Amino acid sequence: MNTLRRDIKERTNQISKMQWSLYLLILMGQCCFFTCRLYEYHFIAENKSWSEAQRYCREKYTDLAKVFDMTDMSRLRNSTQNQGEAWIGLNNNTDGNRTWHWSLPGVEYIQNDSSWNQSGRQSWEPPGNCGRKRYDQGDKKLADVSCEYPMWFICYDEMKKDNKTLYLITTPMNWTQAQSYCRYNYTDLASGLDQVDEEKMKALITSKDTKFSAWIGLFRDTWRWSDGSDFSFRYWDMELFNDTQSNKTCAMTLLNRSGKWSSDECGKEKPFFCYDDNLILIKENKTWEEALYYCRENYNDLVSITNSDEQDWIQEKVKEANSTYVWLGLRYTCTLGFWFWVTDEVVKYKNWGSDVTADDCNMSGAINAGSPHEWSKQADNKMFNFICSKK
Ligand SMILES: *[C@@H]1O[C@H](CO)[C@@H](O)[C@H](O)[C@H]1NC(C)=O
Ligand SMILES: *[C@@H]1O[C@H](CO)[C@@H](O)[C@H](O)[C@H]1NC(C)=O
Ligand SMILES: *[C@@H]1O[C@H](CO)[C@@H](O)[C@H](O)[C@H]1NC(C)=O
Ligand SMILES: *[C@@H]1O[C@H](CO)[C@@H](O)[C@H](O)[C@H]1NC(C)=O
Ligand SMILES: *[C@@H]1O[C@H](CO)[C@@H](O)[C@H](O)[C@H]1NC(C)=O
Ligand SMILES: *[C@@H]1O[C@H](CO)[C@@H](O)[C@H](O)[C@H]1NC(C)=O
Ligand SMILES: *[C@@H]1O[C@H](CO)[C@@H](O)[C@H](O)[C@H]1NC(C)=O
Ligand SMILES: *[C@@H]1O[C@H](CO)[C@@H](O)[C@H](O)[C@H]1NC(C)=O
Ligand SMILES: *[C@@H]1O[C@H](CO)[C@@H](O)[C@H](O)[C@H]1NC(C)=O
Ligand SMILES: *[C@@H]1O[C@H](CO)[C@@H](O)[C@H](O)[C@H]1NC(C)=O
Ligand SMILES: *[C@@H]1O[C@H](CO)[C@@H](O)[C@H](O)[C@H]1NC(C)=O
Ligand SMILES: *[C@@H]1O[C@H](CO)[C@@H](O)[C@H](O)[C@H]1NC(C)=O
Repeated sequence: MNTLRRDIKERTNQISKMQWSLYLLILMGQCCFFTCRLYEYHFIAENKSWSEAQRYCREKYTDLAKVFDMTDMSRLRNSTQNQGEAWIGLNNNTDGNRTWHWSLPGVEYIQNDSSWNQSGRQSWEPPGNCGRKRYDQGDKKLADVSCEYPMWFICYDEMKKDNKTLYLITTPMNWTQAQSYCRYNYTDLASGLDQVDEEKMKALITSKDTKFSAWIGLFRDTWRWSDGSDFSFRYWDMELFNDTQSNKTCAMTLLNRSGKWSSDECGKEKPFFCYDDNLILIKENKTWEEALYYCRENYNDLVSITNSDEQDWIQEKVKEANSTYVWLGLRYTCTLGFWFWVTDEVVKYKNWGSDVTADDCNMSGAINAGSPHEWSKQADNKMFNFICSKK
């Protein structure tokens, strides 16, 4: 990014004095590039009960480990040589309420009653905790059916080979098997209401002339992450895990079984994994410049988003914000006419919303705190919460 630095420096004579001080401040930012991770796992080789482990992690780090996807799982395993059992930050909630999740990590489940047909289950479909889509003339609704019931299913492929992102698999399988099939051969079971309702789905379905039901990536369970986030990733070892053994309410990873998960009585003492968050949401309203100063003084920098993993992780964080938008380290230079990250990274990955605000001087980038968490151009004197990266 030396070019950017040089460009900015060469053109400084065109920049007003006030703006100049801001550019200086921006240039002083610490380069982060690929060395900064969003969060880190720490394996603690001391035996503790689940709650003691939770207390320890909250004191020394952020919380007991949570796992977003398979890449996280691999990082978690790589953070230790240990081959035994260790607690992770997942436990069975006490009120017994089940929460719906999409199988594909990062897709947020939003309840919309008009997508469901509460009386839509066919007489042969046992009730349960997995979501299926029906095709029966006008009825294209969701219903909750027992996950053990074998039926056709719909996979989603992120690679968009031939633009055909959805695939109807006509080999009946139970939900768990269907999920493994899609994850192995494609990306995941079809997830997200927009994906499940889109035109391609209609084409897929109308190409079959029979009435049928098919699994999509919906399931509900009683398990919750210790830090309150709603990550949908589950990695249960189906040979060992039994979700009806009601006194085994804390989750552990079995490091000698590819890290797959099972559960045990929470009072048992085991080693555990903590996670340490490298980002912090500051729930104070500041202008963009004040936010930049604040982060540089107290932490590292205003956060940048350079890929979809970072976007997903930051989406989780901004849900807790109490302003409509949350400032990012994204800035427009009107002298040079482009957007850049204050951390010096190029704006290659983009997630702008559909509003057509023209680029203008004194504009900075913010992320919408509400779903679908797109980026927005905002006048930099507006007051929002913001996210700092730690050192
Ligand atoms: C974990 O370690 C293995 C083997 O050393 C490596 O192939 C893999 O990329 C690592 N995973 C991550 C997420 O770094
Ligand atoms: C459990 O779900 C019911 C029904 O949605 C709700 O009334 C109740 O408050 C929930 N309990 C808790 C502890 O969230
Ligand atoms: C629910 O779905 C219907 C039909 O797909 C849509 O028109 C409506 O806007 C959705 N409601 C919400 C709150 O998203
Ligand atoms: C709900 O499902 C039932 C049973 O399949 C069907 O008769 C009914 O038309 C469906 N309702 C809607 C609104 O799709
Ligand atoms: C799904 O099928 C597999 C293989 O037949 C079986 O081992 C597994 O227990 C089934 N899972 C559920 C939830 O029924
Ligand atoms: C894929 O999508 C692109 C742009 O949407 C279109 O031009 C192209 O024809 C599509 N290819 C196929 C095989 O449908
Ligand atoms: C992937 O697809 C092949 C061919 O359709 C199938 O035989 C195989 O079992 C699938 N893999 C998994 C893990 O389900
Ligand atoms: C799971 O645990 C329950 C209660 O302890 C038991 O009745 C059931 O047989 C177990 N299921 C399996 C598959 O081991
Ligand atoms: C988890 O909680 C639910 C609802 O309280 C209960 O039915 C289930 O048996 C529990 N599972 C385990 C493994 O504790
Ligand atoms: C949990 O259940 C198992 C089998 O039902 C029993 O052996 C064990 O003593 C129980 N543990 C506690 C703490 O209640
Ligand atoms: C926003 O968060 C701050 C800090 O947690 C709190 O003091 C304030 O009351 C919150 N405001 C609203 C409207 O939730
Ligand atoms: C921040 O501003 C929002 C409006 O954008 C307001 O609702 C919220 O209470 C403010 N939070 C604090 C901590 O002042």
